[in-house]
Amino acid sequence: MSDWGAPATPAAEATNDAWGSATAAENGAEETVEETTEETTEEKGKTYEVPTLNKDEFLAKARGAGWTETTAFNYADFEASGGNNGDWHAISKVYEWNDEYGDVGPEVPELERILFGGEHQMRKGQHYENIDIPVTIEGPVKVDPVRNFGDAGLHPVVLNNIKLAGYTEATPVQAYTIPAVLQGMDVVAIAQTGTGKTAGYMIPVISRLMGKAKKLAAPKPNTFDPSYNARFNKVKAEPLVVIVVPTRELAIQIFDEARRMCYRSMLRPCVVYGGLPMGVTMDELGKGCDILIATPGRLCDLMDKPHVLTMSRVKYTIIDEADEMLDSDWEEELRKIMAGGDTNEDADHVYMMFSATFPKTAREMARQYMASDYFRVKVGRAGQAHKNIRQAVVYVDQNQKREAVFDLLFQMEPGRTLIFCNSKAQVDLLDDFLYNRGLPTTSIHGDRNQREREDAFRAFRTGKAPILIAAGVAARGWDVADVKHVINYDLPSTQYGGINEYIHRIGRTARIGHQGLATSFYNDRDEDIAQHLVNVLVECECEVPEFLSHLKPEEGAKIEFDDDTDDEAEEEAEAAEGADAGGVAVAGGAWGAPAAEEGADAGGLAADTGFNAEAAPAASAW
Ligand SMILES: Nc1ncnc2c1ncn2[C@@H]1O[C@H](COP(=O)(O)OP(=O)(O)OP(=O)(O)O)[C@@H](O)[C@H]1O
Ligand SMILES: [Mg+2]
Repeated sequence: MSDWGAPATPAAEATNDAWGSATAAENGAEETVEETTEETTEEKGKTYEVPTLNKDEFLAKARGAGWTETTAFNYADFEASGGNNGDWHAISKVYEWNDEYGDVGPEVPELERILFGGEHQMRKGQHYENIDIPVTIEGPVKVDPVRNFGDAGLHPVVLNNIKLAGYTEATPVQAYTIPAVLQGMDVVAIAQTGTGKTAGYMIPVISRLMGKAKKLAAPKPNTFDPSYNARFNKVKAEPLVVIVVPTRELAIQIFDEARRMCYRSMLRPCVVYGGLPMGVTMDELGKGCDILIATPGRLCDLMDKPHVLTMSRVKYTIIDEADEMLDSDWEEELRKIMAGGDTNEDADHVYMMFSATFPKTAREMARQYMASDYFRVKVGRAGQAHKNIRQAVVYVDQNQKREAVFDLLFQMEPGRTLIFCNSKAQVDLLDDFLYNRGLPTTSIHGDRNQREREDAFRAFRTGKAPILIAAGVAARGWDVADVKHVINYDLPSTQYGGINEYIHRIGRTARIGHQGLATSFYNDRDEDIAQHLVNVLVECECEVPEFLSHLKPEEGAKIEFDDDTDDEAEEEAEAAEGADAGGVAVAGGAWGAPAAEEGADAGGLAADTGFNAEAAPAASAW
C-alpha cells in the first residue's frame, strides 16, 4: 500500500496535498476543466470528449489554469544570425587563470553568481531520507565512507566550491566514491537517479588534481596578457580528465558542474559535442583544456586531429551513463576512447563508470575496461527507483492519448512537466497539438539542429516553456530543478530501452530529496514491460492499478528482478543480511562474477562500522 494513499484517478493523484499541489479548481479553472473531463467509462480506459473550443478559448483556458504564455521559437532571428548567434553553451564563462596567481585564484563575484547563485540551481529537498538507501561495496581495500565533506581530505578550494554549491553532506554514493577515487582506484558506481553521481566523480578527481595542477597541466595561453590573441595564441588541448556522456544536453550540464568545482583553480574545463560548430570547438580547446567533457562522436573526431587534441596526459577517463555507452551502438567509439589514439597507458590512468541502471551484460562488459581490482559501489539494486517518485500508471487507449495528456495537464498545478514519446514524429505532433491548444510547450529530439536543441532546453530550464516534450533516449542524466511531473505518453517498450529507460525517464523528477509525480499511459501495446513495471511499483510502494494487479507478486514474496537471475540474487540477499546497522554490506561476487575471479579479497574489506554512529537518522540506512 502506498504511503501516498491510493487516489482513484490521475486527477486525484495530482492534487494530493503531500505534493504541495493546488488543484486546477483552486487556480480558477474549475468551469473549463469540467467541459473537457466528461467521460464514459469503458472497461479499462476512459474516452475523452474532444473540447469544442476555438483557439482563443483554448488560450484563455490555459491561462485560467495558470499555465504561462506560449512562446514560439524565433526562426527569423535564427536565420538572421546565420544559424549561429554565438550563444552556445560551450562558450559559457569559466574561471580564467592568471599566471600571477598563487595557489588559489581570487574570487570573481560576477562569475560566482552565475555558477552558484542561479535561481534554477537545484538545492537539496525535504525528503532526503528516501534516498538514504543501503550501500553494497566490493573492492580490494577497505574504504571508509565520508559523510562530511570536511572529513574527506579534499583540497580547500574544492571544499569551498562544495560549500558554495550548497552541498552540506555527501550522498550515499558520494560517501564511497570520494574516498575510493582519492585512493586512486578504478570505480564503478551504481546509484539511483538524482543522487549526486556527477559530484561523486567530479569532486575527488578535481580535488586530487588541484594540488598538482601546476606540475601536471599543459601550458595554456595567459588570457590576461595584453598581447593575447585568441586566434593566434592557441594551444593543443591536453586534458587530464575526459568525461564521456551519451547526449549533448548532458555534456553541457556536466560542464556546468565542472565549471563550479574548478572555480578559483587553474583547472580549465571545456565541453565539446556534436552540432557545435567545429570552429567554436577549436577556439575553446585552444584556450587550454584540463577537464574535457564530450559526446563520443565529437571526441572521436577530435582524436583524429592530433594538432587539436592529445589524450597523452589523460589521468582519468570517466564514462557517465555507462550502461548506455557500453551498448553495442557505441562500441566502436568507446573502444577508441578507452584504448585508442595516444591515450596515456600509464598504470596511473584511472577509469570510472557511473549509472543508475547497469544490466548484468553491461556490468560484464565494463570489467574488460577496468583494472582487475576495481572498486564497486552499489546503492540499493542496479536499476532501482526511489520512493520520492510517486508513480502512477493509467490505462489509456492509443487513440485517446492526446486528449488524455491534455486533460492531465489541467488536473494539476502548472509546473515543469516532461513528456516522453517513443518517436520523433510523435514528439512533433504532440508539441503542435498542445501548443495549438494554448499550452507553453517546447520539444527536443535528435533531428533538431543544435541551436533549436539548446534553445528548447534553456526555455524549459528557465521556465519560459515549462512543458518539454522529448524523445525518450535523450533523457538520461538531465538535472532540471523543479520538474514536478514526468509523463510517459508512450511507455518505453523493450525496443525503446524497456524498464531501464523507464527508470531514467521517471528519474527526471524527484531529485536529491525532492518529490515528484510520474504518470505513465499504459495500454495493451505495453504488455512486454508490464511485469517489470509492476515489480518497480511494488518495490517503491506505489499503487498497482487494477488492470495490472494480476502481475503483483504474492504478498511477502521476493520480487523477481530480471537482473538478479543468477547467483547475484542470493549473494545480495546474503549481503543484506550481513549489512551492519549502518546499512553497509560487503557482497563478494554480487556483481555477476565470482569474487575470486575479480580478485576481490574478502579480507581486504569489512562492513563499515565507523560511519553511522550517532549522526545516523533513526529511519536511515546509514
Ligand atoms: N551532496 C549533495 N548535496 C546536495 N545536492 C547535491 C549533492 N550532490 C549533488 N547534488 C545535486 O543533486 C542533483 C542531482 O545530481 P546528479 O545530476 O549528479 O544526479 P545523478 O545521480 O547523476 O542522476 P542521474 O542518474 O539522473 O544522472 C544536482 O542538482 C546536484 O547539484
Ligand atoms: Mg548523472
